[in-house]
Amino acid sequence: MKESASAGKPVLVVGGAGYIGSHMVSALVAAGREVVILDNLSTGHRALLNPAALFVEGACGDRALVERILIDHAIGGVMHFAASSLVGESVQDPLKYYRNNLAQTVELLSAMQSVGVPYFVLSSTAAVYGEPQSVPIAESHPSRPTNPYGSTKAALERLLAEVEVASGMRHMSLRYFNAAGAHPDGTIGERHEPESHLIPIMIQVALGQRPHAQVFGTDWPTEDGSCVRDYIHVCDLADAHMVALQALERGAASSTYNLGTGKGYSVLQVIDTVRRITAHPVPVVVSGRRAGDPAVLVANADRIRSDLGWIPQRSDLDTIVSSAWNWHRRSA
Ligand code: UFG
Repeated sequence: MKESASAGKPVLVVGGAGYIGSHMVSALVAAGREVVILDNLSTGHRALLNPAALFVEGACGDRALVERILIDHAIGGVMHFAASSLVGESVQDPLKYYRNNLAQTVELLSAMQSVGVPYFVLSSTAAVYGEPQSVPIAESHPSRPTNPYGSTKAALERLLAEVEVASGMRHMSLRYFNAAGAHPDGTIGERHEPESHLIPIMIQVALGQRPHAQVFGTDWPTEDGSCVRDYIHVCDLADAHMVALQALERGAASSTYNLGTGKGYSVLQVIDTVRRITAHPVPVVVSGRRAGDPAVLVANADRIRSDLGWIPQRSDLDTIVSSAWNWHRRSA
């Protein structure tokens, strides 16, 4: 493969003040890469900004602003983490999701195309698959999203393929399963307001910030009756983006990859792990099923292992929960 002229050039991280984006910035900086962050701070946090990166406050849908950044900083590639990402909210307010996830990204891609930036890494999601017909889920599984969040990401994946035909811009679409955990140095971690994700909610109970938590159903067709998910450490996610970026820089073809471990843990297993690691009883009440939850979501991640050699290093449940606990305790 021919080395691209953009290899080693500065990277624009859109959404670099968010949970996953900030871990990406940290990995890029550690690898000696120059980074520009673009974030409108609507859900990102100033406290998650990496001091070694240049920060521009603004929207990726501001085409003139993005063009200026791409030119002024000689950006070689764009990684896009900025999105609205709550499944339930997307059902209540689909227009917000099409506006924030699709329309804004159309402007971002337009700016890239007009400046001639050659590659793009997309944060996609397991929500593009919809209700799984079989697990583990490989990339070839049909894409039939069951909510607007998944629909907008599926539309972006399709758009990227069409933009490549028209302009030659290559891309990697990375379909995350359940991102979790925090940086081992304790400086950055998961912070959503309001919080809806399992591990941070259980940790908030352990910290006394909530009296108890809910388990959304123990009547699912799984071994212990609670839902099973494939939790992937956020630093492993960042590593996967790094190898995807480097592959694009080496001239690799566009591709779509699942990012998961292939191993699922149930909600009750996660709660037991949080109890053990925090040494707190973490009281829970069992409530009804949450609308839209599939019983089991586990990735087949063989493709990225064999194409790019990515192997998760920190995604066992103990490492995930300990790192999250460490971050939440420090930032409480
Ligand atoms: N859960 C509880 N109680 C809670 C919160 C969650 O029992 O208070 C359960 C959920 O029902 C689910 C599991 O814990 O079974 C994990 O729930 P999360 O909300 O942490 O994560 P999801 O699996 O719902 O969401 C993830 C990503 C989304 C993506 C989705 C794909 O965070 O971005 O998978 O379906 F869209």
